[in-house]
Amino acid sequence: MSSYYKSKIESYDWLEYDEVCSTNDVIKQYYQEYKNIIISAKSQTNGRGRRGRTWSGQSGNLYFTYNVHIKDNCLSQLVCIIGLSMAKTIKSLAENLDVKIKWPNDVLVNGKKISGILLEKIEDSNWAVGIGVNILNSPDLENVVYQATSLKENGIILDRIEFLVYYLKQFMADFDNYNKNGFNQVQENWLKLAYNYQQNITIKNDKSVMSGVFSGLDENGYLLLEENNEIKRVVAGDLFNKI
Ligand code: BTN
Repeated sequence: MSSYYKSKIESYDWLEYDEVCSTNDVIKQYYQEYKNIIISAKSQTNGRGRRGRTWSGQSGNLYFTYNVHIKDNCLSQLVCIIGLSMAKTIKSLAENLDVKIKWPNDVLVNGKKISGILLEKIEDSNWAVGIGVNILNSPDLENVVYQATSLKENGIILDRIEFLVYYLKQFMADFDNYNKNGFNQVQENWLKLAYNYQQNITIKNDKSVMSGVFSGLDENGYLLLEENNEIKRVVAGDLFNKI
């Protein structure tokens, strides 16, 4: 692990490294020392994505992990809040940009992936939220349905740390609102930005491949999939246009 710089962003202690293996691993070394901490890095040598995938770690993009204290049974709600905060942050930089949240929490610009989010448990009720944002580079991805894009490719030039601060402010406002007022408003705003909402989709996960109409989110943040007048609640998986 390379040298680091220490400061604060909002109420979080913040450690910025030149290079780490994965910011999701580094945070696990610090959670006992700091109640709220952000680990960011200029590059990652072993970045990971959801469902065992890798996440490209070239320099120029933003890689960070922060922790959130929330009951484990509210995790799917947290997943929605994070995706929504990320989409709102990107939209606030250029109002006319086509920004969508692809369930559960990928953020797409013009149908291409700009940000990925990986939640991992640190300990009970304390979750690591690992986020990658393509600021300057759009990594070439092989065998994927959704190609990558970057802020730069969409005409937005912004320092990676400036983006981190904007995102964190947005997340803290949204999380605070959720703690005060509950999940309803998140659900409503999330659906306004949802990719493929009310369309035919396919969801693939470890256990099955399911198709139907994406008809909403339930009170837990699970996806509602309607097929032959039957509604299924889907907890995890990858969403595609109907295959
Ligand atoms: C995905 O879309 O599959 C999730 C990608 C998550 C990538 C971020 S980058 C910062 C943090 N450290 C990691 O190793 N992964 C997450």
